[in-house]
Formats: sequence, structure tokens, C-alpha cells
Amino acid sequence: MSFGPSSPVWHQLVLVLLALAITELHARPLKPIAARASVPATDPFYQPPAGYEAEEPGTILRTRSIVASFFGLLLDAVEAHQLLYRTTAVNGTAIATVTTGFKPLLGAATDRFVSFQTAYDSSDTVCDPSYNYELGAVQTDIISAVEFLILQVYLAEGYIVAAPDYEGPDAAFAPGRLEGMGVLDGMRAVSAYTGLGFSTTTPAIVGVGYSGGAIASGWAASLQSDYAPELSIKGWAAGGTPANLTGTTVFVDNTVFSGFLPAALDGLAKPSAYGAELGPFIESIITPLGQSKLTFANTYCAVEDILNFAEQSVLSTSFQSLGYDLVYDPTFVSVMQQNIMGLYANETPIAPVLLYHAALDEIIPYANASTLFDSWCSNGASVQFTTYGSGGHATTELLGVPAAVEFVEAAFAGTVASGCSSNTVLDSTVDPLALGLDLEPLLTGLLDALVRFGEQDANLISDLAILETLITVT
Ligand SMILES: *[C@@H]1O[C@H](CO)[C@@H](O)[C@H](O)[C@H]1NC(C)=O
Ligand SMILES: *[C@@H]1O[C@H](CO)[C@@H](O)[C@H](O)[C@H]1NC(C)=O
Ligand SMILES: *[C@@H]1O[C@H](CO)[C@@H](O)[C@H](O)[C@H]1NC(C)=O
Repeated sequence: MSFGPSSPVWHQLVLVLLALAITELHARPLKPIAARASVPATDPFYQPPAGYEAEEPGTILRTRSIVASFFGLLLDAVEAHQLLYRTTAVNGTAIATVTTGFKPLLGAATDRFVSFQTAYDSSDTVCDPSYNYELGAVQTDIISAVEFLILQVYLAEGYIVAAPDYEGPDAAFAPGRLEGMGVLDGMRAVSAYTGLGFSTTTPAIVGVGYSGGAIASGWAASLQSDYAPELSIKGWAAGGTPANLTGTTVFVDNTVFSGFLPAALDGLAKPSAYGAELGPFIESIITPLGQSKLTFANTYCAVEDILNFAEQSVLSTSFQSLGYDLVYDPTFVSVMQQNIMGLYANETPIAPVLLYHAALDEIIPYANASTLFDSWCSNGASVQFTTYGSGGHATTELLGVPAAVEFVEAAFAGTVASGCSSNTVLDSTVDPLALGLDLEPLLTGLLDALVRFGEQDANLISDLAILETLITVT
């Protein structure tokens, strides 16, 4: 039986899994399996060896092969390697994190790879994508599990794909500078790694990410010219990009998705992020209720965080004593200012960018992404900005896949037009033939998922609730 990335069996498997993940959420709970993978907190692989601080950013510190799986249960027929590598905290100190490199078994292009920034959107290391991929991992982070299916699209296209734990060793969700350096150092580590069989020491790279993954991608793009100019990065595709964390905070607070905010505050206050400034500040204003929500978000992953804080407010005095005035507090403002993309001309992407965003995105404000487009363009970047006219945040992640894949291909080929342009897509369906017959079953799977999500994500919250049941039972 042929089982390579271009075989029909492969496509069927991915289709079946997509269906399992998204469209068949009412399916019975997955059975627990016998052997469990160790969680990052107790797995010695994640601990850097003594003296690693002296190594250059991007240095490989440990390597291993893993058995990659879907939902911790079903084998993914690819080669998978993990690298522990040295990267850098916001304050410049050395830290270490893990990236997972996947290689299609047949026909992989060996002069390039895609860096896939997963939206893990959580502030506990148990939500690290590297853990989630392992056979026997408890599926705590359902977003990683579902995005792993999108990652399969790139593998099916014949790309080697690397997915970094860009939130670093503290699982710091939201601080863009930390995440950007984590992405760039992950690219350095993968480029230098011989185990994936690259035919060159400077493989071409394109970075992709949506939502939380676009914080990491957008900041990596912003920091590249200064932090990692030697990398052969050919482009970036970032969708649903949180370009302004204050904008996201006021926009999503007190909505069904406000649960991202306690996790983001936790992430910003980690030692590797802004803990030195933000930790004592938060302690001085937080209420017991607020503290219980922060503690919860430090021990659970995104879906549970969302359900635990739906329609609640971090900008109310029940959460912290300043109420809405938090957004004007100088300590808070100084941290948030460091998390606005496009504010400084010397932080402009040097490789072409595709930015795409739903006009009616209900989680990440469209206006902040369009402001980012304007500032990057006025600073000389090449950016294509695509507005999705129908569909919400989650549906646009799926709707945007074919165009993102096409952009990645054009970026590798060097055929992305320079300069800036914008366009609007009004269709709310995926053309199953958009990427050719090969990927038709996969895109049909996305189409089914879109139908399941409903117009503008109408069913998303009930889907998340069902996913939580799945998590709890497995
Ligand atoms: C960021 O968002 C805040 C809050 O909505 C807004 O006041 C500010 O103008 C925004 N800045 C940029 C550069 O987008
Ligand atoms: C600097 O970052 C390191 C690594 O995360 C952390 O352990 C340390 O506490 C930070 N120091 C300060 C003063 O922020
Ligand atoms: C950013 O988004 C927030 C929330 O929607 C909005 O209030 C603000 O005006 C936006 N600012 C800019 C400059 O895009």
C-alpha cells in the first residue's frame, strides 16, 4: 500500500481526521490509550544542558525522533524530529525551547521548509504543540490538534514543516518579541539540523500562522532584519493577526471569547516576558476572583480557558481594582506598547507578507490589522492584504488556507509582486479544486468544517463545549 504524501490513502486519512476533529464533534469520546508521553514539565528532553547559555541563539541543544500522531492516537506517516534549541527571553537572557520538524516520507523538497506557527494560545507548557504531536499525549490543546491537520496540507504539498514551541519554556502566550525570537531561532536550529536531509545549509523558509500563530509570525517578520538577517526567509503568511494587544483586549473583553485575556495576562507576566515589571503590578491590583482566573489559565489550555471566562471582563473592578482604567495605567501601557506591531520603522518585514483578515472578525479587530498593513507599507514592506468579507475568525482560518498555500508557493518561487496591494474575497466557500486535484479531498474536508462552523462562526462556542467534553473524557 502506498502511503506517501501524494497517495490517495494519505488524503483519505487526513480527510477522515478533519471530519473527526471538526465536523463530527458529536462523535463518541476517544478511548484512553495505555502508554502516555511525559508532559514537558517532567520530560528531561525540555531541560537545557548545563552551560547552554554560552551558545549562540538558535544552537541545537538536544535532538530526538518522535512518533507523530493525530490526537495522540493515530500515527501520522511522516518522519518527525524534535530539537531543543537556545533562544532569547525578552530581557536578553538565554532560554531554551523545542521545535518539531516533519518530513514527508516521499518526495520532500530538501532545499526549503515551512515554519508553521501553531495558535496554541495558552500559558501552560502542557499545551506545547511539541507535546501534543507525540503518540500517547493527552489531548489538552485541541487547537494544536486541529491546526495539525492544516499543517498536513503543507506536508501533502511536499514541504518539510517545522512547528516551534515559540512561547518558550514558560509557555508565555502573547508577548510578541519573545515569540518572534522563538520562531527565528527555531528556523536557525532547523536550518542547521542534518537529520531532516536538507540539500543546503541555507534552506529557503516561509513562515505561516493564524491568530496566536500570527502574533509569532508577525513579530518574527518584524524582528528578522535585526535579529536574524542571515536566514533565507522568502515570505510570511499571517492571518487574523493580533497587531495591537490593547486593541484586542478592549475588543474581546466581555464577549464569549474573553477567556483568551487571562491567559494572555499570564503569558505577558511570565519571567521570560515582562514578569519583572508586570508581576508585582498585577499582584498589587488583582482581586481574589481575578487571581483565581489567572491561576486557572496558568494550568489549562485555550478551549477550557475560553469556557471558564466567557462573557467576563478583565477590565472590571471584580477582576482588578483599576477597572477600565487599567488600559491607561503607565505600567500596563508601557508593556502593551511593546506589543504593537508596525510601530517602529526598523521593525518592518524584509520578506513579502500576506496578511488576511475577516472584516467581521469577532476576536481580533480588523481595524488594527488594517492599521498594520498601512504602517508596514509606508515603511517600505511588500504586503498583500486580503479581506474576507464573509465569515468570522475561525471560518476565515479555514477559508484562507488555499490562498495561504498559494502564497507560500509563490514566495518560494520568488514571484510575489513587490509593493503593497489589497483585495477582498466575498466567497464563503473553499473551492475544492483550488490547489489542484491532489488536494481536493483535503479542501472538501475544510468545506465540511466550514458548514459545521456555520455562517460567521455561529456554532463555534457549542463546538468548543463539545471539544471540552472530549478533552475531559480522554
Ligand atoms: C491600539 O489600540 C488602542 C486601543 O484600542 C488604540 O487606542 C491605539 O490607537 C491602537 N494603536 C495602534 C497603532 O493601532
Ligand atoms: C530575565 O529573563 C530570565 C529568563 O526568563 C528570567 O529568569 C529573569 O527573571 C529575567 N530577569 C528580569 C530582571 O526580568
Ligand atoms: C484597534 O482596535 C480597537 C478595538 O476595536 C479600536 O478601538 C481601535 O480604534 C483600533 N485602532 C487602530 C489604530 O487600528
